[in-house]
Amino acid sequence: MRIICVDNYNQVSKKAANIVASQLILKPNSVLGLATGSTPLGMYKQLIKTYEDGHIDFEEVTTFNLDEYYGLNKNNEQSYYYYMYENFFKYINIDMNKVNIPNGMAKNIDDECLEYERKIRKAGGIDIQVLGIGRNGHIGFNEPDIKFEALTHMVNLDEQTIKDNSRFFDSIEDVPTKAISMGIKTIMHAKKIILLASGIEKSDAIYKAIYGKITPKLPASVLQLHPDVVFIVDKEAASKL
Ligand code: GLP
Repeated sequence: MRIICVDNYNQVSKKAANIVASQLILKPNSVLGLATGSTPLGMYKQLIKTYEDGHIDFEEVTTFNLDEYYGLNKNNEQSYYYYMYENFFKYINIDMNKVNIPNGMAKNIDDECLEYERKIRKAGGIDIQVLGIGRNGHIGFNEPDIKFEALTHMVNLDEQTIKDNSRFFDSIEDVPTKAISMGIKTIMHAKKIILLASGIEKSDAIYKAIYGKITPKLPASVLQLHPDVVFIVDKEAASKL
């Protein structure tokens, strides 16, 4: 595990974007695992700039997002599909047929999850997975006490996560209580993982993820077992290390 500690959020975003950009330069047909939440927004902005400056190209890139709320369709402004399109995809030359996000409206969730895993395998696996982290240590929507062996599946969201994410919704009642998420096993299969964290409210989860016991109670702690993981944290998120 490597830990890159930088001064502030802007530098977290730049470091992360540089790592993703160098991956794309070395392998233009990379498979990217992407994350949502407020943390990766700066990284997406940086990648758009690097693309506009002509340094990287997305034509051959395939993407898989970590998760999607259950019950929200693509056009819902709170869906992760909408987030990804509005904050990233619409600015780059990605082929939208190569964009994969779990379908939160799928009729048969089990089939949807199996199919998602099949697509990841068919694409050759994820070359680099971007992660944020929840205050309770969740990654994707793998909440505390998740089974480490889980692949893509339907999850119930933690009360804490619902509260944290309610800032994006009109009211807390509007926050879906379920989501479809890549499982820990799916994430651990990625060849390389970068986890981004900024702000004091993430410091406890970051400390436990890096130095704590490896336990499903703190899902990100499993990353200690991954052979190529980089934590990119700002001073505040690193303040307990
Ligand atoms: C959501 C997402 C996670 C993300 C987390 C933290 O729950 N499913 O992938 O890491 O929020 O979000 P933020 O970066 O806004 O703190």
